[in-house]
Amino acid sequence: MCGIVGYVGKRNAQEVIISGLEKLEYRGYDSAGIAVITENGLESAKFKGRLSVLADYLAEHPIKGTTGIGHTRWATHGVPSDENAHPHFNTAKTLAVIHNGIIENYQEIKAMLIEKGYVFRSQTDTECVAHLFDLYYDGDLLKTAFKVNSIIRGTYALLICHRDSPDEFVALRNEAPLVIGYGEGENFVASDIPAVLEYTRQVAFLENGEIAHVTADGVTVYNSKGDTVKKEPFTVEWTLEAATKGGYDHFMLKEIHEQPQGIRDTINTRIDANGYIKLDDIKLTKADIEKFDKIYVVACGTAYHAGCVGKYVIEKLAKIPVMCDIASEYRYSDPFVDDKTLVIVVSQSGETADTLAALRESKRKGARILSITNVVGSSIARESDDVFYTWAGPEVAVASTKAYTTQLVAFYMIALNMALAKGTIDEAGYFELVSQLKNTADLLEEMLKDDSEEKEVASLIKDKSALFYLGRSVDMQTAKEMALKLKEISYIYAESFAGGELKHGPIALIEPGTPVIAVSTQTALVEKMVSNIQEVKRRGAFVIGIGCEGDTLLKGVCDKVIYVPKVDDLLAPLVSVVPGQLIAYHTSLMKGYDVDKPRNLAKSVTVE
Ligand code: G6P
Repeated sequence: MCGIVGYVGKRNAQEVIISGLEKLEYRGYDSAGIAVITENGLESAKFKGRLSVLADYLAEHPIKGTTGIGHTRWATHGVPSDENAHPHFNTAKTLAVIHNGIIENYQEIKAMLIEKGYVFRSQTDTECVAHLFDLYYDGDLLKTAFKVNSIIRGTYALLICHRDSPDEFVALRNEAPLVIGYGEGENFVASDIPAVLEYTRQVAFLENGEIAHVTADGVTVYNSKGDTVKKEPFTVEWTLEAATKGGYDHFMLKEIHEQPQGIRDTINTRIDANGYIKLDDIKLTKADIEKFDKIYVVACGTAYHAGCVGKYVIEKLAKIPVMCDIASEYRYSDPFVDDKTLVIVVSQSGETADTLAALRESKRKGARILSITNVVGSSIARESDDVFYTWAGPEVAVASTKAYTTQLVAFYMIALNMALAKGTIDEAGYFELVSQLKNTADLLEEMLKDDSEEKEVASLIKDKSALFYLGRSVDMQTAKEMALKLKEISYIYAESFAGGELKHGPIALIEPGTPVIAVSTQTALVEKMVSNIQEVKRRGAFVIGIGCEGDTLLKGVCDKVIYVPKVDDLLAPLVSVVPGQLIAYHTSLMKGYDVDKPRNLAKSVTVE
């Protein structure tokens, strides 16, 4: 997720900005840039790669001024490159813009600006903000900010400075964080507190819709109607280490809580004015979709589990047979792949060696490749025919959470579009699912307000040596992902079984006191799951059910039930996985393990 630092005061802006950006490196980035107002006008530098590339350049070619803005970019629209790095400028290069987030209506704004003769130099959504500012700027930066704020839609934290307003800059916020740092004769705005901690501990957050006018002498904050908003700065007592995690104790917990936003960003940028899903980055036509006689989904780890849900969703909605395979197995299994096969490759990092090799093998066999990945410009993205980017933001914790839920969203959107193209869903059913899908972000937000139930389950299971997860149908895939989460970070032996398969072997493992977590969200299968629960209960298991609100059956047989909101059966995996993530998190925490960096595991596995 991009990092932003803005400064106005008496110091050398370049130094303040680079040092601030260093504190934001944890957010993940692929390029960095800076613009400073100097006696020559607006001077800038921006490069693909590490922040040190920019810092080394500036050491040789310093930019001298006391007002400036700087940025580390985590690519969304447009690959990581010097041109796409921020800042972005108007044609005359008199103003500079940096941005974190996604301008959802950038295409219509861009079209309007092109019509007016503006020429775009980058592939980013951000550049349209620079030209919009240019279009409306009449010498009053703040007034222009209000105008632009009324036009753009989406998630954004924006800083803008102008050569002709050398002692000020403006900051706009909607759904992307910005914090003001208050100094003596100097002021700061940044994406996160660590960037300003070296200079001040007096900070205040900007709220959605607010605009800050920042000068060395003060910061005035306005709401979107233009009324001033009184900000009460507070004193930061945190350590730098705690602050990089946004106040959360661990990246994993932070990322669990970022799921609603990741889901929103992944969905909202792809819904057109009529409510249809528009997958601009996927060029599959109706004829292409009709040509595919099968789909392979290939991935590793958590991404593979997302693929297993994806198989279920595509088969149910689009009625195309789907095989889901582990990338390392697929490569050597001589899969039935030809030019009538669509291969969907899923990878958070876009760099997993086995997944990349599977992609290349599929390509060699003539398949069309669609990848679902979280990293713009990654190897997997570059080598695919079509890419669906999940906008989850960088995932730091080894145990994947927000990447998984946004991968599920990708599958829902792809499957719904395929179904509509093939005529296997009617419009009413389509819009109902799209609307429910959008609503899952709010549901998750609500669920995440209270994790006391999951904490209680963690305290019940933390000293057990083994734990089993049960599920039927698509709940079985959720059970698999929950078991993986628990074993990855709590080191408890955890396995998942299909409810109906229990009596064919796994039930031999049940002893008095064995914890069993039974996932049961599928309306038609709750009774069947209740029978399975009774089977293990009779052998002494302690059963924790994960069911839907409104359930009357599970609570009669389980020792404890955690309820998730009732959604369409097809969408249930998106909400039911959350308690599993939180149970794993709290169990690891209670056992005193390193939640974010579990033993023996790596975040990105770039070797076979
Ligand atoms: C590693 C990570 C897992 C991840 C898997 C696939 O094993 O520890 O969390 O699910 O790789 O990674 P990818 O980046 O391809 O999704």
